[in-house]
Amino acid sequence: MKTKIQEKFNALFGAEGEMYASAGRVNLIGEHTDYNGGYVFPGAIDKGVMIKIAPNGLDKVRAYAIDFEEMAEFGMEESDKPEQAWARYIFGVVRETIKRGGKVKGFDTVVAGDVPAGAGLSSSAALESVYAYAINEMNGNGIDLFELARIGQSTEHNYCGVKCGIMDQFASCFGKEGCLIRLDCKTMEYEYFPFHPTEHKLVLVDSRVKHQLTGSPYNDRRESCERAAKAMGRDLLRGATMEMLDAVKDKISEEDYMRARFVIGEERRVLDVCDALKAGDYETVGKKMYETHWGLSRDYEVSCEELDFLAELAEECGVTGSRIMGGGFGGCTINLVRNEICDFFIEKARSSFAAKYGHEPMIYPVVISDGARKLD
Ligand code: GLA
Repeated sequence: MKTKIQEKFNALFGAEGEMYASAGRVNLIGEHTDYNGGYVFPGAIDKGVMIKIAPNGLDKVRAYAIDFEEMAEFGMEESDKPEQAWARYIFGVVRETIKRGGKVKGFDTVVAGDVPAGAGLSSSAALESVYAYAINEMNGNGIDLFELARIGQSTEHNYCGVKCGIMDQFASCFGKEGCLIRLDCKTMEYEYFPFHPTEHKLVLVDSRVKHQLTGSPYNDRRESCERAAKAMGRDLLRGATMEMLDAVKDKISEEDYMRARFVIGEERRVLDVCDALKAGDYETVGKKMYETHWGLSRDYEVSCEELDFLAELAEECGVTGSRIMGGGFGGCTINLVRNEICDFFIEKARSSFAAKYGHEPMIYPVVISDGARKLD
């Protein structure tokens, strides 16, 4: 990928420039908790986005996306929003940097990525983070890493229509090889957890049902949670208990009640999983993952038939834990699988899924890697 980017950059803009990379993410547990002020437990992965970038002395951005074989050229004023969806992420990052008082000189750039789009692995956060990071360095703005993650998040909110939480951009900026990160999305305190299971592997099974959060009911989920919190007299669901929720059951819709019930349970599960991991108790980790899956499916209603099928199949195969990962509405399951049944499970997932849905899922092993960084 590096060579491809360099060659293209050379051909389009000349040789001078710097290279940066950033990563997609997985999340072991803690789904739809971030925008509720709860805990998440993500890690960056070895699939990401790579760019080459150089100032061009102009008041505009010229960007070429290798994956779309497409060039976008746009100014940096609010009214200059580009047509291409992929370029809007870069534009959003430029605008959000400027809004924070950062300087942004016009630049040329070539971008390529290997995060499968629509798999729930946050290809968009990888794209935002790499540009937030590179633009910050290139212009000497000195914006800290948290704020760079927020630049990505605000890009989603203000330029891409997704009212996402901070998890994906955080993981993409703070990711560290071999470590999951527990983040408290209320206080923004975080802790790295070395993750080197010896008897298990993490495997992603991608249903290839395209997940797209833009225009999806993702924002509705968030609004449900906000209504439920408000009914309890709180800003956030974080810290609410089932007793508190039951006390306002008559004042909120059945749907909002179910959404909040999931989030309250999920907050506890993240902490339980972290404790279990520290104790090397993978059985408990796995059990919690299944609970999350069925909570996301039945209470939060962000699963789909194919993902429920994959979680059920995993359980039948004796997989330790399995659940839908990320925003939902398609994408991957994340599976905690004992080494000795790994090949069997993968083969079974391939064949059973294909027999039922007419195509094989994609299988990716998870390698926990570094987040946003400059390349040599
Ligand atoms: C998407 C969002 C995140 C988070 C997850 C669900 O990935 O971008 O902020 O809400 O969904 O946990």
